[in-house]
Amino acid sequence: MRTKLVAANWKMNLTVTEGATLVETSLKTLHSRPDVDTVICAPYLAIPRLREILRNSYVKLGAQDVFWLESGAYTGKVSPLMLADFGVSYCIVGHSETRGRFGKPELPESTLSIFGETDETVNLKIKGLLYHAINPILCVGETLAEREAGRTDAVIAEQVRGAFAGIESAELYFAAIAYEPVWAIGTGQTCDSAEANRVCSMIRSLIRDLYDDELASELRILYGGSVKASNSRELFHQSDIDGGLVGGASLDAAEFTAIVQSA
Ligand code: PGA
Repeated sequence: MRTKLVAANWKMNLTVTEGATLVETSLKTLHSRPDVDTVICAPYLAIPRLREILRNSYVKLGAQDVFWLESGAYTGKVSPLMLADFGVSYCIVGHSETRGRFGKPELPESTLSIFGETDETVNLKIKGLLYHAINPILCVGETLAEREAGRTDAVIAEQVRGAFAGIESAELYFAAIAYEPVWAIGTGQTCDSAEANRVCSMIRSLIRDLYDDELASELRILYGGSVKASNSRELFHQSDIDGGLVGGASLDAAEFTAIVQSA
C-alpha cells in the first residue's frame, strides 16, 4: 500500500516572513496523518527558518531545484550536500519551468534557454540527490502541442528513461514522479482525472518494464497542474495517482490543508 504524498511547490513566491507565517498557520490545521506524507518545497532562503518551524512536526522540508555537484566554481548554484546539511528531505527535479518549457511564456522567448534543463541534467541532479539520501520528485509532462500531436506517452517515456538512466531499482524506492501536463500548470485547466490516471498508469507500466514489479508497485506517482481543494479528492482517489504536487493552491493555508485532508 503506497502512502500518499502531497507536496507544496511555492515557486518564487513569499518572503521568508510570509512563508513562516503560512506554515505556522497551516500547522494549526494540518493534523498528523500517518497515511499522508506532506512536504513543503520552499525557496532556498526560506529553508533555514522553515527547518526550525517544522522541527517537531511531521511535515517534511523540500527544495525546488539543485545543482548536481557538491562544491566548486558554480556561481549561484546550491548543491545536494548543502540541502542535506539543512535537513531537506525532498527536492523537485525537472519541473517544466526549469526545463524551460513554459506552456505559455510570459518571459521573452529569447530568455527561456536560461533555464536550460535537459533529461541529462535531470539525471545528474537525481544521482546527486540520491547520494545524499534526498528524495527526488521528478516532474514529467507534455506541452499542449505535444498532446495535440498524439505524442504525450512518447514524450513522457523519454523523460522518465532519461531521468533514471544508470540508476538502480533499489535507489528509487523513495523517489516520486509527478505527472504535470505543461498546459495544466498555473492555468486553472486541470487534466481530466481519468486521463491523468491513464498517464500515471502508463508511467507505472514503464517502471515495471524498466525495473521490476516491486518498484512499480511502490513508487509514488503524483499529479500536478491546477490541483485545488475542489478537484483533489477525485484526482487522488484514482487507482494510479498517489497524491499531488501543488503550486498556486499551496500558498493558501486553508486550501492546502483541505487538499492534504482529501488525500
Ligand atoms: P499549479 O502548479 O498548481 O499552480 O498549477 C503546479 C506545479 O507547477 O507544480
